[in-house]
Amino acid sequence: MSFKAKMHETAKSKNSPIVLALDFPYESPENRTKILNRAQNVLEAVAPYVCGVKINHHLILPLGTFEGVQKLVKQIHENGLMAIMDAKVNDIGATNQVIADYYFAAGFDAIIANPFIGWGEGLRPIFEVSKRLGKGVILLCYMSHKGASEGYGQTIIDPETGQKTLQYISFAKKALKWSADGVVVGATYPQKIAEIKQILDEKVPIYSPGVGIQGGSAVTAVKAGASYLIVGREITQAEDPAKAASKLSDSLKHT
Ligand code: XMP
Repeated sequence: MSFKAKMHETAKSKNSPIVLALDFPYESPENRTKILNRAQNVLEAVAPYVCGVKINHHLILPLGTFEGVQKLVKQIHENGLMAIMDAKVNDIGATNQVIADYYFAAGFDAIIANPFIGWGEGLRPIFEVSKRLGKGVILLCYMSHKGASEGYGQTIIDPETGQKTLQYISFAKKALKWSADGVVVGATYPQKIAEIKQILDEKVPIYSPGVGIQGGSAVTAVKAGASYLIVGREITQAEDPAKAASKLSDSLKHT
């Protein structure tokens, strides 16, 4: 089964579209054990209310990929959840391939990459590695922060048609053409989610970060067309992370 299909099945069986962003504030590196324990505890408590967990540099830097983080990936799978590596891969193809190979070797089911690098000698090797190993590639399409307009929101000339278009529209069309397993569009931009959904329909699911602290609404993002919500601090920094995740998941049950 493809990553896209596994993700769909997991969200259905867990009855939740939430992907937990397992992020914690900076701690002195000597406190690595404390960070790992906190991550393990939050993950275990929140697991019943989410379908996946997204990890990024917040944990890779202090814990290391094949030490702490691999323990977390194992725990994610033991809880029946999918593990996504938010690497925002952004280098030349040969380097990207090694990055993807290491993260997949650590057990991640999918990796996030940046489409600004283009296909040839950029994204292509990541897609090739991921297809060979039965893993997924999720592409950025319109990020959740304010400055996203400066890159993803630029007006460009489509080299194939010679017509003016928007960068994120071009990325959405490319995600479809390349058979990406998902795109990331900020929950902070529900109108853009709706525009991108028109292009992707059900073929490429939309992952939407930016809920809560960044100002996006989970319900609005889902109504606009997001299939999954990526949620970090709203859950990880709550006094009771399980309660916060359960409440958020319940709020989406009738959308
Ligand atoms: P919060 O705490 O704001 O964290 O819920 C969001 C998480 O998602 C990441 N993030 C993004 N990842 N594209 C991505 O691939 C985005 O546009 C984006 N916006 C936020 C962020 O790093 C954090 O882990």
